[in-house]
Formats: sequence, C-alpha cells, structure tokens
Amino acid sequence: MVDRPPYVHRRWPNYSAPKLIFWASIFAALILFIILHSPPPDFSSDRRTTTTWGSLNWERRVQTSARTRSHSPSHSAGPGHLSVLVTGAAGFVGSHVSMALKRRGDGVVGLDNFNNYYDPSLKRARQKLLERAGVFVVEGDINDTALLNKLFDIVAFTHVMHLAAQAGVRYAMKNPSSYVHSNIAGLVSLFEVCKSANPQPAVVWASSSSVYGLNTKVPFAEKDRTDQPASLYAATKKAGEEIAHTYNHIYGLSITGLRFFTVYGPWGRPDMAYFFFTKDILKGKPIPIFEAPDDHGSVARDFTYIDDIVKGCVAAIDTAEKSTGSGGKKTGTAQLRVFNLGNTSPVPVTKLVSILENLLKKKAKKNVLPMPRNGDVLFTHANISYAKKELHYKPETDLQTGLKKFVDWYLDYYGSDKKSS
Ligand SMILES: NC(=O)c1ccc[n+]([C@@H]2O[C@H](COP(=O)([O-])OP(=O)(O)OC[C@H]3O[C@@H](n4cnc5c(N)ncnc54)[C@H](O)[C@@H]3O)[C@@H](O)[C@H]2O)c1
Repeated sequence: MVDRPPYVHRRWPNYSAPKLIFWASIFAALILFIILHSPPPDFSSDRRTTTTWGSLNWERRVQTSARTRSHSPSHSAGPGHLSVLVTGAAGFVGSHVSMALKRRGDGVVGLDNFNNYYDPSLKRARQKLLERAGVFVVEGDINDTALLNKLFDIVAFTHVMHLAAQAGVRYAMKNPSSYVHSNIAGLVSLFEVCKSANPQPAVVWASSSSVYGLNTKVPFAEKDRTDQPASLYAATKKAGEEIAHTYNHIYGLSITGLRFFTVYGPWGRPDMAYFFFTKDILKGKPIPIFEAPDDHGSVARDFTYIDDIVKGCVAAIDTAEKSTGSGGKKTGTAQLRVFNLGNTSPVPVTKLVSILENLLKKKAKKNVLPMPRNGDVLFTHANISYAKKELHYKPETDLQTGLKKFVDWYLDYYGSDKKSS
C-alpha cells in the first residue's frame, strides 16, 4: 500500500460567506486601529535638518570655518579676531556680511535653511561663493536648538549676526505662520541658546524700517512710535525688538537691532521691486506702479545700497559690548541698542523705474494701480543721526550708482548662464 501524503485529500475548510465577512471586518478594524494609533510622520524642518549635521567631518568643517586668520584665540576681540555665527548666510544681506567679515580675517560660520520663499538656486549660488571664500554654511533651521547647541559646543562664538528671517511684506498674507516660525519662534530659540552659551556672544540682528508702520513723522527716528505696524511682517519684527529687550534685561545678553531701509544691490532678493522690475522690463512684461492717494504724494522708498548696510552691520559688531551673563544668569547691565540703517534720501518708485529704463535701454510697460492694502507703507525715510554718532555710519552710494552695479550683476548672472530669475 502506498501511503498518500496526508494533505492530498485535505480540502479547504468550508467557510461560509457570513464567517468570511466577519473575519474580514475584524481584520479591517485592526488595520484601522493601528493606523489611527501610530504617531504621525514628522515633517517638521527640525527633523529634516538634523540628519545633515553632526559627523566628524562636519565638525571639522565648522571648526575650520570659525578659525580667525591670525589663529589667535577668539577672545582677543577686535576686527579680524572674531568668531561670528551668521544666520541667514545664504540670503542677500547674510552672504554679503559673511564675505566682508571673512575678508578682514574673522572666523565665520553660516547657518541657513535654504527655504524656497524665493528661488533656492540663488541661495545655493551664494553658498558656493562663500565656500570658495572659506565660509561653511551649515544647512539647518534656527528653531533646531540641538543644532544651535552643537554649534556653540564646537565654537565659542564671540558674536552672532542674526539675519535669518521670513522677509517680505506681502507674502505675510499668504503664509502668516512662516513669519511666526522664523521671526518669533526662531528668534526665541536663538536667544535661548545664546543666553545659555558660555561665554555668551553679543548679538546683532536685523529688525526693519517696517516697524515704523503708520508713523507719519519723517524722517523716522529710533524714538518715534513703532506701535502701529501695517503688516504681520512688521509686527513680528516689532515683537522681535521687545523679545530682545527681555533677553537683555533678564539674561544680560548684549543685543543690537538694526532697522534696515529697503536694501538693494547685486545678489539681491528676487521678490523686491527693483529686482522683478528689471526682470519684467527685460521681458517686456508690464510692471505694477502703485499710486498713493492724492493727498499723500507719491510712493517713495529710502533705498539703501548693500555695501552701506554691510558697513553698518560690521560697525555694529565692532562696537557691541560683551554680554554680561554667565551660565544663563545676568551679572550686570548689558548693552541694548537699536539703529536705523538707511540712506536718508527717499526716491519715488517712478524715479527708480526711469533709472532702470536708462540702464536697461528699454522702456517699461507701466501698469498704474491704486495702492492696495497689502501691508506696504507709502513712504520711508531714515534719520541716521544715531548710527552716524555711534557707528560712524555714512551711506555713500546713491541710487543711480547702486542700480548700475545691480544691473551689471543681473545681466552677468542671468544673461550668461540662461538662468531664469
Ligand atoms: N533686504 C531688505 O530690504 C531688508 C529690509 C529690512 C529688514 N531686512 C531683514 O534683514 C534680514 C536679511 O534679509 P535679506 O534681504 O537678506 O533676506 P533673505 O531672505 O535673502 O535672507 C534670509 C535668509 O534666512 C534664511 N532663513 C529664513 N528662515 C530661516 C530659518 N528659520 N532658519 C534658518 N534660515 C532661515 C533664508 O533661507 C534666507 O536665505 C532679514 O531679517 C530681513 O527681515 C531686510
């Protein structure tokens, strides 16, 4: 007799349809339970950025970048001997300030999250320039306190030049939370790390002329009203100034706020009027020109050339006193300053357009519109007496000269490479 394998005559159990439906429902309910009770995926920027730092090679790059040219210890303060953490280093102002500090021998480490508020390839191009000059730009977010603490563990920064922010007035109506994330939460995160660092660095940071908001007294002086912001951007910068006061008062952080007035120049920001006017005039596209209501005159800005702003930033660093806190505790009164950095000669936007037309040798197609209520103010004009006195700040570039340098850069950058802005 041949033994049959035991399974030959075995048949599928005879499940009835209701039983099958019952087990299928139990199975589906189980899957649903697991999905509902498992933690959501973390898409926060902190997580995304922490993976890119921390290796030995990364630490070495940070150390090398922070090294001053003279190799003397960073506490022998003075130009060429400082170790500066520059946040927003791949940004417009940040890249210029980082270059200027590196050029004179300071150690500079950059930090930037390379967000896509405007074309990130422009930020990458600035990063390349910085790397060629010896400045390492760490990719990360100012809200990532673990990363910030790590940077302070590796380097005893003497100064922080804080330029990372969500900039732009109009975008605040589209993406308000990005302003809270970078300009408020990010600022607090940075101050928290600075106050706990030993030694505490001195902090210089970018506020904005937008804090003057609906103030009508001109030129705008530091003591004028700043309690009527016209945009969420302005409100977050004003909040930043108050937060700075708190960290100075409680923890002895030396803090200097700089209210920049419409900065322009090579490697500028594509979201700003002078930049996209240039692009659109070249393409033959109409540009919007906003008209002020009759009784308010024309829309005008105190355009300030980037090199003048850089000098103001560097002077603010050089005149910043040391923070007085230690181990997170204040040991004495610390310096707290706010300066206007402007050009002191407001120019109507129509004049800006005619200078661009001459430089580009092309007429603009102007689309004249009533000024929308989108956060923009009609007029800015800086009183710079205080910066003159304390920082020896003296803007030297007029709009015609500065725009010529911008247009030359623009044509070179976008012309040669077929990049599109
Ligand atoms: N350019 C101006 O006319 C002007 C005027 C007034 C004030 N400001 C202020 O000056 C500073 C520099 O402005 P800019 O024109 O160079 O702008 P920018 O946008 O070119 O530079 C800011 C940089 O910060 C980075 N960044 C933003 N949020 C970040 C975050 N959470 N973590 C890390 N990096 C972050 C961005 O990627 C960007 O590269 C900003 O604080 C801005 O608000 C600029």
